[in-house]
Amino acid sequence: MPGLIGPSDYSQEPPRHPSLKINAKEPFNAEPTRQDLILSYITPVDYFYKRNHGPIPIVEDIDRYSLAIDGLVEKPIHLSMAQIRLLPKYNVTATLQCAGNRRTAMSQQLKVRGVGWDISALGNAVWGGAKLSDVLELVGVSKFTSVTSAGGKHVEFISIDKCKEEKGGPYKASVPLSQATNPEADVLLAYEMNGEILNRDHGYPLRVVVPGVIGARSVKWLDRITIIEEESQGFFMQKDYKMFPPSVNWDNIDWSTRRPQMDFPVQSAICSLHDVDIVKPGKIRIAGYAVSGGGRGIERVDVSIDGGKTWFEASRYQKTGVPYVSDDVGSCDKWAWVLFEAIVNLQSGNADIVVKAVDSSANVQPENVMSIWNLRGILNNSWHHVYVRSTAAKL
Ligand code: MTE
Repeated sequence: MPGLIGPSDYSQEPPRHPSLKINAKEPFNAEPTRQDLILSYITPVDYFYKRNHGPIPIVEDIDRYSLAIDGLVEKPIHLSMAQIRLLPKYNVTATLQCAGNRRTAMSQQLKVRGVGWDISALGNAVWGGAKLSDVLELVGVSKFTSVTSAGGKHVEFISIDKCKEEKGGPYKASVPLSQATNPEADVLLAYEMNGEILNRDHGYPLRVVVPGVIGARSVKWLDRITIIEEESQGFFMQKDYKMFPPSVNWDNIDWSTRRPQMDFPVQSAICSLHDVDIVKPGKIRIAGYAVSGGGRGIERVDVSIDGGKTWFEASRYQKTGVPYVSDDVGSCDKWAWVLFEAIVNLQSGNADIVVKAVDSSANVQPENVMSIWNLRGILNNSWHHVYVRSTAAKL
């Protein structure tokens, strides 16, 4: 691709905020601290988790950059950044969550493969860009199309980065054409994050944002979009990011038996406390995030301080001063997380504090991590516990 290159080493990585917790250096994978994660509803770019599979691409000349759109379409085209910016611009507030969020906790029960993550492999940003459904019209694919006349059923996004898993080739993923051409699915070709030009770590100059779906499908550093018959055959669609039952191990795995994971399930976690914490008796704040996939809102966040025997409801909020009502189109951000808060009075002693969320389809987080254990350690959305000792002794 003219203007955009994928380096083969890590000598030209961008600067990153020093407070990030680095889970892997090369490729760079890092998450913010729990406390930083919930400081604001919109996650500042500095605190937004960074998940990479290779060295960060470099824009050599933005004027020479162009995005190819081809495959099973009537009229393949190339679009420059200037042309993409001329299309109607949308701002979509959406939470990106890595499928590996909370993998470390799953691995502590029984080892799984993959980069370890605490509970902060997600972030909520305002993504600015063109709708994929508008872009596809330029190649003759109308809104609400599920098959093109040439038989195209999936939209593949191809990057420029060099990934070990792809034997040095680029990162790839796809979404069904029906989702890509549905303007209400809000799939964006984003060039802005929180009102600023996307930075290198997050996909400069152009990335896909697929709201409500695991982060793995939101391909960064777009080089090409191609309409294909079957879903992408890329490594990260076919040999990774699939959910297997607990009985599958590395000796009996058959990747072809499962579909690539798309929507993420209902999730919540407590960010105001460490997994094992010591506090002074009295009022303590239990706060964190809850989010569900597929555009489902958060109907309830339940909190327990006795390990799940009894529960009470936390308050939920997105924007200050606007009461959160799940799935209320006018007042809530459909694709975004909900922050929650509860203040409890803790006596001296031990407390097993738990959170679980319920989404607008009444899906509830599973109690036990082993019931959803899978060898790649994805989608750990089991109840999040923190064990607190409340003591008046000097901390
Ligand atoms: N796109 C490319 N080209 N290369 C990647 O390594 N990682 C994916 C996705 N898009 C990736 C990519 C994964 S697994 C996730 S979770 C998100 O990007 C992370 O996006 P972020 O780094 O902007 O938070």
